[in-house]
Amino acid sequence: MEPLIDSFGRVHTNLRISVTDRCNIRCFYCMPAHDVEFMPRSELLTFEEIERVVRIAVPLGLKKIRLTGGEPLVRKDLHVLVGKLAQIEGIEDIGLTTNGILLAEQAPALYQAGLRRINVSLDALNPQKFEKITRRQGFEKVIEGITAAQQVGFQPVKVNAVAVRGLSEEEIVPFGEFARRTGVEIRFIEYMPLDADNAWQRDKVLFAHEIREALERHILPLVPCPGQDPHAPAAEFEFADGVGRIGFISSVSRPFCLSCDRFRITADGKLRNCLFSLEETDIRGLLRSQAADELIAQSIRDSIAAKKEGHEINTARFVQPERPMHAIGG
Ligand code: 5AD
Ligand code: SF4
Repeated sequence: MEPLIDSFGRVHTNLRISVTDRCNIRCFYCMPAHDVEFMPRSELLTFEEIERVVRIAVPLGLKKIRLTGGEPLVRKDLHVLVGKLAQIEGIEDIGLTTNGILLAEQAPALYQAGLRRINVSLDALNPQKFEKITRRQGFEKVIEGITAAQQVGFQPVKVNAVAVRGLSEEEIVPFGEFARRTGVEIRFIEYMPLDADNAWQRDKVLFAHEIREALERHILPLVPCPGQDPHAPAAEFEFADGVGRIGFISSVSRPFCLSCDRFRITADGKLRNCLFSLEETDIRGLLRSQAADELIAQSIRDSIAAKKEGHEINTARFVQPERPMHAIGG
């Protein structure tokens, strides 16, 4: 069957599935502080519906899946979904991006269900700063979650840290040392305009090259890791003595849209061909109106075919999507 190819020749093999828009914390770059309107439960895709979408997309070339949210671990019995997806022939890789608060208790069941790759979002190693960013408590839980994931055998365990000017500078060196001490790869992600409050400004982005410079000045030079996946958004480095891995996701300063292989489905079943797309395809409507697999496959193809060249954050044309990050899925 035809692969999922867009008009720029990009082949799409990587689906990010958001399983809920709910979250147990309130990071300012992703959610409003108060009065969040969550999707009614009846609007969320069921595990069976998600499984059906994946089964339809595998013959179209889907190979990799990542479960996201909101916070995916607040979705009841997430390990059951992992188990269903892990059994689908053709799915080579399943990952999870979580804030880590519920990870310690769920790590064993997730591992047993077949999950191996975990990214934990953690923006600060200082508990006060954690509370300032997330507007909630829970720092200790996240650290416990990371430790538990490593103990259970997850490999790799990575940490995603959003890099915000005025907040993240003091976290850089502690994160570098954390990477060296624990073997967890730290990935710095440039802050993107996906917040609910529309507060993003270009001068609030702490750029990857600035972080790299600070790590090299205070710890050791960073050397690029060999054999990197050309589709991976992170550029990966190792400290010169071979201890500690650091990744940089330069979404703003060096967009990687030209090698993008991802598409997304929101918790309420809307297909998005880009994090920043302004249009969506209503897959849930098709799933719930007895549409045949072929019709759903065709609408996935059409959505990918219509993908824009990339985000336009660096232009005056940029329009922020209406959905904030928690309703899209990271
Ligand atoms: N800018 C950059 N990264 C973000 N994330 C969520 N919102 C933003 C944003 N506005 C990150 C989360 C998570 C990953 C999926 O995306 O921290 O680690
Ligand atoms: Fe892909 Fe869109 Fe992200 Fe660019 S902005 S990498 S096209 S999802």
